[in-house]
Amino acid sequence: MSKRILRLNETKELYKDVDFISAIKEINDDYYKEKGIKKKALIFTYGCQMNEHNSENMISLLESMNYEMTEDQNEAQLIIFNTCSIRESAENKVIGLLGHMKTLKESKDDLTIAVAGCMMQRDDPRNIILTKYHHVDIIFGTNNIPKLPELIYTQKETGKRVLDIIENYDLVDDIPEYNRLYSHKGFVNIIHGCNNFCTYCIVPYTRGREISRKPEDIVKEITELANNGYKEVTLLGQNVNSYGKNLDRPCSFSELLELINAIPGLERIRFMTPHPKDISDELLEQYGKLDKLSKHLHLPVQSGSDEILKRMNRHYTKEKYISKIEKVKEVYPDIVLSTDIIVGFPGETEEYFEETLDLVKKCKFDFAYTFLYSKRSGTKAAYYEDQIPHDVKLERFNRLLDVLYDIGNEKNTKLIGTEVEVLVDEISKTDDTKVSGRTDGFKLVNFVGTSDLIGKIVKVKITDANTFSLEGELID
Ligand code: 5AD
Ligand code: SF4
Repeated sequence: MSKRILRLNETKELYKDVDFISAIKEINDDYYKEKGIKKKALIFTYGCQMNEHNSENMISLLESMNYEMTEDQNEAQLIIFNTCSIRESAENKVIGLLGHMKTLKESKDDLTIAVAGCMMQRDDPRNIILTKYHHVDIIFGTNNIPKLPELIYTQKETGKRVLDIIENYDLVDDIPEYNRLYSHKGFVNIIHGCNNFCTYCIVPYTRGREISRKPEDIVKEITELANNGYKEVTLLGQNVNSYGKNLDRPCSFSELLELINAIPGLERIRFMTPHPKDISDELLEQYGKLDKLSKHLHLPVQSGSDEILKRMNRHYTKEKYISKIEKVKEVYPDIVLSTDIIVGFPGETEEYFEETLDLVKKCKFDFAYTFLYSKRSGTKAAYYEDQIPHDVKLERFNRLLDVLYDIGNEKNTKLIGTEVEVLVDEISKTDDTKVSGRTDGFKLVNFVGTSDLIGKIVKVKITDANTFSLEGELID
């Protein structure tokens, strides 16, 4: 295979009359006629909800071209890695797995390998793939998903490696219609990118600047979901509450929630992720006003030390954060609270870390996503000199988990004996006589039940509590 990589715009004129989806579909139908089985595709997804949703978009495009999804890499003709750059370990894992793909590719004559997502927006990992991983056929970025059919077609027609990375973020366009993974809960992007430049974070470099979708487009998408029986929607964005600032006709996130709350048929609205510096009292008050707004607030704090928060470029203090939590508890006392915490950020002393433990105890989070600080080249914090040794980070991390687990257990135990409404998602992963779903406050509940309950909201009595989940009994 030629080492030169082809950029999609080089073949734009050549293929301007091609309907890529139909063309690939035809190729795949011929394959089916010849072999009696459908062509299969597999996506490995890493990272956040946004990436999960991007993979959902890709699956939909692949299915429209008559690929069948598989989980077995040995039977796939197309394997896509949808990558994450948040932590170095996530990138290293993909680089390692891609190395193994070389052997798989050599053992099969019809395997196409593609790499997408945040890693491909970054020069260093992209250059490794370009120069050392010649068995990777297709490379595309986070904003180039709608081009997947064209990428597959061009790679097949030319036999060359192809690449498409949008560097101009104004060009982002959504995939207009697609099949979704679930038929009762949907994920909807409301804002792309991030303008915050927290000093540890790679996202502003991989997903570009904030671009809000128009409220009318969002409302239209969710109305269609509700008309199709969807009960729950999760609004996605790196910083959802800076939504709407750059629109021609500005619309605040709080106003957007009001518009969505009015959509008939919809029952629950979730969102992730808000930023404490942008969370207005007006938004917190919506927890007392909007009946469909899920009574769960995930508000990433990252650290409880004012000094560390300053170095992280977070624009709030410990006291300010706690005051937001107190405010929302006043509005809705039983609200479920969760957060993200980074342990071992450069310069974190024992004293600073104890500020984090203190904040966790004061806020009483139901759960938290906890991370060891990971140095990301290109971010400001990577150049701070006072990096923390790994063993110190790990020791603090375990102490933090002990505190979080105690609070989580205590809060879940209090729910024993209460009645909750659960939107049933699936057959339980640990026991196939049970189903599992989420309460309005996002608590995971398992109870004896059958697949006909999936997609329904049912009443459940809580009978037992674990650190991360609840056990219950169906009441109806
Ligand atoms: N190291 C560790 N955790 C990080 N996060 C983002 N960047 C880093 C990093 N360099 C965490 C933050 C963020 C979550 C999505 O990932 O807590 O809220
Ligand atoms: Fe990263 Fe901060 Fe933006 Fe979140 S708000 S994506 S942590 S830069």
